[in-house]
Amino acid sequence: MKREIDTLIRETFGRLTQVDSASALEKLHIEVLGRKGALAGLFKKLGSRPESERPALGKALNEARVQLESALEEARVRTVSVPSVASTIDITLPGRTPNLGHLHPITQVGMEITEVFRGLGFEVVEGPDVELDYYNFEALNIPKDHPARDMQDTFYITDNIVLRTHTSPIQVRVMEKQKPPVRIIAPGKAYRCDSDMTHTPMFHQVEGLMVDKDVRFADLKGILTIFVRQMFGSDVDLRFRPSFFPFTEPSAEVDMKCVMCMGEGCRVCSETGWLEILGSGMVDPEVFKMVGYDPEEVTGFAFGMGIERIAMLKYGINDLRLFFDNDLRFLEQF
Ligand code: FA5
Ligand code: MG
Repeated sequence: MKREIDTLIRETFGRLTQVDSASALEKLHIEVLGRKGALAGLFKKLGSRPESERPALGKALNEARVQLESALEEARVRTVSVPSVASTIDITLPGRTPNLGHLHPITQVGMEITEVFRGLGFEVVEGPDVELDYYNFEALNIPKDHPARDMQDTFYITDNIVLRTHTSPIQVRVMEKQKPPVRIIAPGKAYRCDSDMTHTPMFHQVEGLMVDKDVRFADLKGILTIFVRQMFGSDVDLRFRPSFFPFTEPSAEVDMKCVMCMGEGCRVCSETGWLEILGSGMVDPEVFKMVGYDPEEVTGFAFGMGIERIAMLKYGINDLRLFFDNDLRFLEQF
């Protein structure tokens, strides 16, 4: 009987090497270890052996069962996992790399602008997109029914709440909280009912404000000139043009030479050769009074530039609306 046990083990191991499917393995398992299988048959024979042999034979049978069970279990793991993985995944194929995104060109240019001003000692602050009429207009010396409100087509939420039409309300919020000196820039979105090649209903501005004793118009010109030269190179053409804002006096709009036509005049610059990039001026004493600053003590300048306009000039793009179409063929170029 000892020989029969050895034979069963040897044969089973031999057949295991041939097994190539889960069903073949299952069949072998039943034949060897099943309730009516070969091993069970040998256990049955045990009763017919002389009593003196039984303990040794019983031990041998139990050992054989352990050995067979573990061999079959090992084969099960092999047949179940290895062939199924190998048949569904070709591990020799090169991997498919996911498309990596990147920051939107407007975000990139916005970050570049803030970096330049950070380098000039300006602190970066933010304000709310949904703004009180008071901060967007009133505190900036634009009372209700003032004709200057027509300069910006406003999205009203209620009579007293608007989508901010510019980032200038942040100036007021900062000055209300902080005593001079102030040197901040505030990037953010602005909203106006406006749409053509150089205007979109939502756009981005960076507000700048510097207040201290003896801040002059020359400081404004100096800071802005350093800024455009760092953004566009040292030979860039700038033009300061007298203008009007209710919250600055005197005021100037700053134009950059149109890069589409190099100043020749084209559709983008309305045949002028220049593109307006920002509005600026010396903070009006009325604004200082609103926030409790003494206009006899301090002076300051402020500016608000359009990030899209800077990006158009930087990349030579002739239609601002492209930035908001979300066409990947456009966006992937940056
Ligand atoms: C203002 O918004 C003033 N708050 C700027 C200012 C700040 C003046 C501080 C003085 C002191 P203006 O409406 O001109 O000014 O807009 C400023 C810039 O925002 C423009 O030069 C332009 O670059 C950009 N801009 C204005 N409207 C749009 C629009 N619809 N789409 C894209 N860019 C715009
Ligand atoms: Mg303007």
